[in-house]
Amino acid sequence: MPSGRGAEPERDGARTRGEHYFAASPAASHRAREVVLTLDGVAQPIVLGTDRSVFSPGAVDEGTRFLLERGTRPDPSVTTLADVGCGYGPIAIALAHWAPTAEVWAVDVNERARQLCRDNAARAGVGDRVRVVAPDDVPGDLRVDELWSNPPIRVGKEALHDLLVTWLRRLPDRGAAHLVVHKHLGSDSLARWLAEHGWAVDRRRSRRGYRLLDVRAADRSGSSPPVDRAQSR
Ligand SMILES: C[S@@+](CC[C@H](N)C(=O)[O-])C[C@H]1O[C@@H](n2cnc3c(N)ncnc32)[C@H](O)[C@@H]1O
Repeated sequence: MPSGRGAEPERDGARTRGEHYFAASPAASHRAREVVLTLDGVAQPIVLGTDRSVFSPGAVDEGTRFLLERGTRPDPSVTTLADVGCGYGPIAIALAHWAPTAEVWAVDVNERARQLCRDNAARAGVGDRVRVVAPDDVPGDLRVDELWSNPPIRVGKEALHDLLVTWLRRLPDRGAAHLVVHKHLGSDSLARWLAEHGWAVDRRRSRRGYRLLDVRAADRSGSSPPVDRAQSR
């Protein structure tokens, strides 16, 4: 992410006191805070607890909000969804509200984020359907109907590609992954890489540099170049 791009501000709250948001067991002291998430179709604003050493503790991330405001909604009849890199849970909790009978797998390497996500899901009334787990605790044969992610670009390209491919392979043939990535954090090169590796990428929207990417298995006839439907506004 452009972690190499020195001029880029810490758009995604990448570090708290020198510690990356993707540390497995953050050592930083705690600073409990609350942020509010407003979801279309959900009457009450959702209050989410946050802390130091998790992603975007001061407010729900702008990219995440774009994904939730303008991205694809789950089909309410789906049974299994995933939020890959759940942080303190805004996406997983939104999915659980919008797909009221689905089980939502919320996966994160950061144990502090996982605990916040569990607590936040319970407080939002969806804790019984949000399964918060570390990557190693995801069953190897888990299949998900669709997945959403504001992915951890700062882990580096190789780790990011491995993570995405692992999860894309859990989708059925017609299933999709819905991602948000900022252009300064490599959205366009990620879309190209995915297209070169057999995934069809639809750049559905763009806002203030954030791109919404829908990713599906490409036709077996060959990989497709990314389709650009983004309209900047
Ligand atoms: C950009 S943040 C998004 C967090 C949250 N979804 C949100 O929108 O606020 C990416 C998250 O991915 C997590 N992460 C990093 N590597 C991961 C991995 N291999 N598997 C799952 N999550 C990972 C990070 O700890 C971080 O919480």
